Amino acid sequence: MIIGIVAISINHAIGKDGKLPWHYTHDLRYFKETTMGNAVVMGSSTWRAIGKALPGRLNIVLSRSGLGDAPAGVLRLSTKDEIVELAHYLSRDVYIIGGAKKYETFANVIDEWVVTEIPIEIADADTFFDTRLLNGFESFQRINLTKELLVKKMRRSPQTIVE
Ligand SMILES: NC(=O)c1ccc[n+]([C@@H]2O[C@H](COP(=O)([O-])OP(=O)(O)OC[C@H]3O[C@@H](n4cnc5c(N)ncnc54)[C@H](OP(=O)(O)O)[C@@H]3O)[C@@H](O)[C@H]2O)c1
Repeated sequence: MIIGIVAISINHAIGKDGKLPWHYTHDLRYFKETTMGNAVVMGSSTWRAIGKALPGRLNIVLSRSGLGDAPAGVLRLSTKDEIVELAHYLSRDVYIIGGAKKYETFANVIDEWVVTEIPIEIADADTFFDTRLLNGFESFQRINLTKELLVKKMRRSPQTIVE
């Protein structure tokens, strides 16, 4: 499956100055547990924000211009189609981990979303999630990471699946 995973603030912010504009340990731990053993696909800005290959996962960076000296084991691909093709051959899930442009690029092939609702507003954010990408998806599981942090798992509503 191809799965989008994202943390979104109340005002739909996901990033600021190339970084996550919050620090929630429980969400980072949940992200790690969820994606572990699978493939993670990110844009080159998100790759720079993370700053290293995520251990225990196949790291794929989508970039047209290259990554300079990417560490061994990090796969750089330049088109969405290459990644979708690769996903068919992998016996693991492919998580689209951002940023905003990647979610938009993969929106029509994403089977499920894992959305953490960040319970704060980020007034001066510069990267936002287009919540229209969640249209046609319905929540099938809700997980409380803490009293204030909620994760919603969503899948395509049956009537929106196009064969
Ligand atoms: N809250 C969250 O869950 C979350 C998750 C991830 C990231 N973030 C935040 O989001 C921000 C980064 O997001 P972003 O949208 O600015 O950047 P991004 O999607 O990570 O990367 C954008 C770059 O990816 C490459 N690219 C984009 N579309 C492409 C395509 N169709 N084919 C090939 N390459 C393509 C281009 O770089 P090239 O020049 O290399 O081609 C483009 O400049 C950061 O602040 C980060 O911390 C938040």
